[in-house]
Amino acid sequence: MNNEKIDVMIKRREDQAAGVSVFEFISVSGEALPEFEAGAHIDVHITPELIRQYSLSNAPGSRDCYRLGILNDPESRGGSRTIHETFQPGMTLQISAPRNHFPLDLNAEHSILVGGGIGITPMLTMAYTLKAAGKSFELHYCCRSRSSAAFLDELQAEFPQQLHLHFDDQADEQRFNPEQVFAGYEANGHVYVCGPSGFMDWVMNSAKEQGYAAENVHFEYFNAEVDSSGEAFEVEARQSGVTVRVEEGQSITDALAGAGIKVEVSCEQGVCGTCLCDVLEGTPDHKDHFLTDEEKEDNDQIAVCCSRSKTERLVLDI
Ligand code: FES
Repeated sequence: MNNEKIDVMIKRREDQAAGVSVFEFISVSGEALPEFEAGAHIDVHITPELIRQYSLSNAPGSRDCYRLGILNDPESRGGSRTIHETFQPGMTLQISAPRNHFPLDLNAEHSILVGGGIGITPMLTMAYTLKAAGKSFELHYCCRSRSSAAFLDELQAEFPQQLHLHFDDQADEQRFNPEQVFAGYEANGHVYVCGPSGFMDWVMNSAKEQGYAAENVHFEYFNAEVDSSGEAFEVEARQSGVTVRVEEGQSITDALAGAGIKVEVSCEQGVCGTCLCDVLEGTPDHKDHFLTDEEKEDNDQIAVCCSRSKTERLVLDI
């Protein structure tokens, strides 16, 4: 994982729709920012202890700034609220280089992009990329109301043919109907979803029911509920020569921290992959949303912020 940190300055903040602020970061050194692709995100170092991931939302190819749309989430564990309260133009901070766990397949016959609420942000980069490549796509934006829809003017101006708006507080006919949207199933069609986890599960399941293969349904959770319940077990950190007991209700990272072993974490919700460790022995009980089903079956990596163990003992390469 590329751990390079980049010093940036907030060039602009625009409070857009209800609870959403759009921030533009430019490099402090004046150099061009690293390139990124559609679907990429960056880590934002909000405070030394608080790191959160946000999708980039400007057109890939623009290296003069990174643009983020951030919802002041009432369920925030501190990240988005601190950003909304403290981030102002002129302030400097550190970010990571872009990473992409949500890449776009440009070979698709047709792509269906579905953004729920602030989940529209990675869809913007995808729509810009598909449009620039002359590819066939449609973009569905689902929001509680028009006033809660960020980036609306830009979306209407840039993607008038492809954009479909769906507001919860308006007529039934315009609501997002996954059965209808996915009914014209195409073997080489791809679906991309980002939004609240319940919404994403609903959209992804509908796409699969309409015939889309699991590998053609792409998703990125930015916030996930993690069920980290399970019985106690033992973890050996082989390189460190330390064994700890992970109690019921405790995470592996917390148990290791108690023995002085610090594993870098970020989301602590099993969505970012920062805390992945190699497994040498034992079988993980995967609770994360980051590894693919195939990777989970390999059982050679574990997200230690939330996953547990199916065996009484787990040996990790740390
Ligand atoms: Fe993000 Fe564990 S810290 S997956």
